[in-house]
Amino acid sequence: MKVLVIGGGAREHALCRALSLDPEVTSLHCAPGNAGIASVAQVHPVDQLDGRAVADLAVELGAEFVVVGPEAPLVAGVADAVRERAIPVFGPGIEAAQLEGSKAFAKDIMAAAGVPTARSYVCTTPEEVAEALDAFGPPYVVKDDGLAAGKGVVVTDDLQAAIDHAAGCERVVIEEYLDGPEVSLFAVTDGTTVVPLQPAQDFKRVGDDDAGPNTGGMGAYSPLPWADPKLVEEVLDTVLQPTVDELRRRGTPFSGLLYAGLAITSRGMRVIEFNARFGDPETQVVLARLKTPLCGLLYAAATGHLADFPELRWRDGAAVTVVVASEGYPAAPVSGDPILGLAEAESEDGTAYVLHAGTRLADDGSTVLSAGGRVLSVTATGTDLTQARARAYDAVSKITLRGSHHRSDIALKAAQGA
Ligand code: AMP
Ligand code: GLY
Repeated sequence: MKVLVIGGGAREHALCRALSLDPEVTSLHCAPGNAGIASVAQVHPVDQLDGRAVADLAVELGAEFVVVGPEAPLVAGVADAVRERAIPVFGPGIEAAQLEGSKAFAKDIMAAAGVPTARSYVCTTPEEVAEALDAFGPPYVVKDDGLAAGKGVVVTDDLQAAIDHAAGCERVVIEEYLDGPEVSLFAVTDGTTVVPLQPAQDFKRVGDDDAGPNTGGMGAYSPLPWADPKLVEEVLDTVLQPTVDELRRRGTPFSGLLYAGLAITSRGMRVIEFNARFGDPETQVVLARLKTPLCGLLYAAATGHLADFPELRWRDGAAVTVVVASEGYPAAPVSGDPILGLAEAESEDGTAYVLHAGTRLADDGSTVLSAGGRVLSVTATGTDLTQARARAYDAVSKITLRGSHHRSDIALKAAQGA
């Protein structure tokens, strides 16, 4: 099968890597891709937010299946534009993608479906904001209603900072603070049947011990040795299936990847947010452990045949990914510096490898350059988290990028049994 992946981050590199290992995939393309993706797929330039351009490219390539990676094209209706040309697409249409595109919409669906989540108010005026902040008290949680590339949420004890963030948004969701560890659980769905993947944990703050500002994600690991073995089943029954059923009931079925961001609070599990696509960097570790060939799974979801799909198979052991970020990330990332040691970081036995996020090839083709805030997602597998971490950090130590930084505590507590 000829497959086209839309996107150009580490998530798409992980998707392309897994697709390239699936014997069903005979030809793999990615647009716009990046310097690393170019080693596993043929890359093509495209404006990924332009549905017509993406659909034209798919037709021109003779793609038989399109996988849309990031949220922005989904929310812009790119999956619909491709589907209109009768090409199967993995990824929800514009209406179901509102689950990620609008936090107020997601709250409405959760209320209708009886899904446990933080109590919240949707506010559009400073008076409503003041009232909502007062009702919940600190720590304050203020969320921009729309897509904000990881910058939309402020969690703070500082009332003025909460008010200021709300003032910068047209519409905000203000909600109660959820304590407890976070879990990311992905599910593949065709709009009716829901197949959960294995849970992972992301590290959102820039610095060790969760210091500093929120980022797009600085690392991840899977499995979660500390989590209740029944967690996946509980989330399937109380969150994922009811949400998919509610969207289908409304006539806007969700097919693609439903990502539940969860908090395991002292009062039980709660949804923090939904995303309408694979999460980054969790995808890197979840796909590292998935034994079932990826293309068949995603194609079954895209074509409505998940009910007949065989049970997923997983590799034993663990996976860890460490994000290498550029100088100044997240506030003001520096781009354009050469990255050295990439080949040295890859182990011969395939247990450690480098997935590219923000990279590009220099014009003369000689060097890989940094081209974004999160530059690389260095991924490793092992018999347990301790071994996977050791391999990931060993690989990170071989890479040189001036001014770059990474967290040194990804999966540390989980590996220590804490
Ligand atoms: P989101 O963009 O919704 O994923 O939020 C980004 C991050 O903000 C989450 O991963 C949490 O760490 C934090 N966050 C969001 N909502 C809450 C909440 N209600 N209580 C505590 N932390 C939250
Ligand atoms: N891992 C966070 C996200 O993908 O939104």
